[in-house]
Amino acid sequence: MINDISEILISEEELSAIVTRLGKEISEDYKDKNLMLISVLKGSVVFMADLMRAVKIPCKIDFMAVSSYGSGTKTSGVVKIIKDLTEPIEGADVLIVEDILDSGVTLSYLKKLLMARNPKSIKICTLLDKPERRKSDIFADYVGSSIPDEFAVGYGLDYDEKYRNLPFIGSLKPSVYQK
Ligand code: IMP
Ligand code: MG
Repeated sequence: MINDISEILISEEELSAIVTRLGKEISEDYKDKNLMLISVLKGSVVFMADLMRAVKIPCKIDFMAVSSYGSGTKTSGVVKIIKDLTEPIEGADVLIVEDILDSGVTLSYLKKLLMARNPKSIKICTLLDKPERRKSDIFADYVGSSIPDEFAVGYGLDYDEKYRNLPFIGSLKPSVYQK
């Protein structure tokens, strides 16, 4: 598995510092609010598990699964809901927790969909941002780190469902996905 990685983009220590910083910002910004963290499966599970423990105020959590990728490395532009939320979000201050904001197609679709359910507010927290690749007019309110246009895996992020269990974020060798 490790042989398929060309470079470590974000180490375990750096990830931990990023999560602590985001947790502090969110705890401060949402202290008088009705925080609901919504994790977008599966890529954001590891980030969500760490982030929710870095958030020091009461919050609820829920999960949603969408798919836009198949097994390639470029977005298909089509977003499918695979698993919906378990509870209504009306009146909640929703914070969508994502692994990576790439073209933005997935998140702009998801934000619109959730907005229609009348939350009190809705914001986005993404661990990684690839601003160079943006196609939709969308930004994240909280960003862990911006990364170059390389295919990132680990800490929840996959290629073809693999590499999610790497404890750091690495860059996948192009030879792996150009086969
Ligand atoms: P977007 O709709 O193009 O912004 O794609 C968002 C989704 O694509 C993310 O939630 C990831 O699942 C996947 N994705 C985009 N870039 C990468 C990457 O570099 N590594 C792994 N998954 C990625
Ligand atoms: Mg994925």
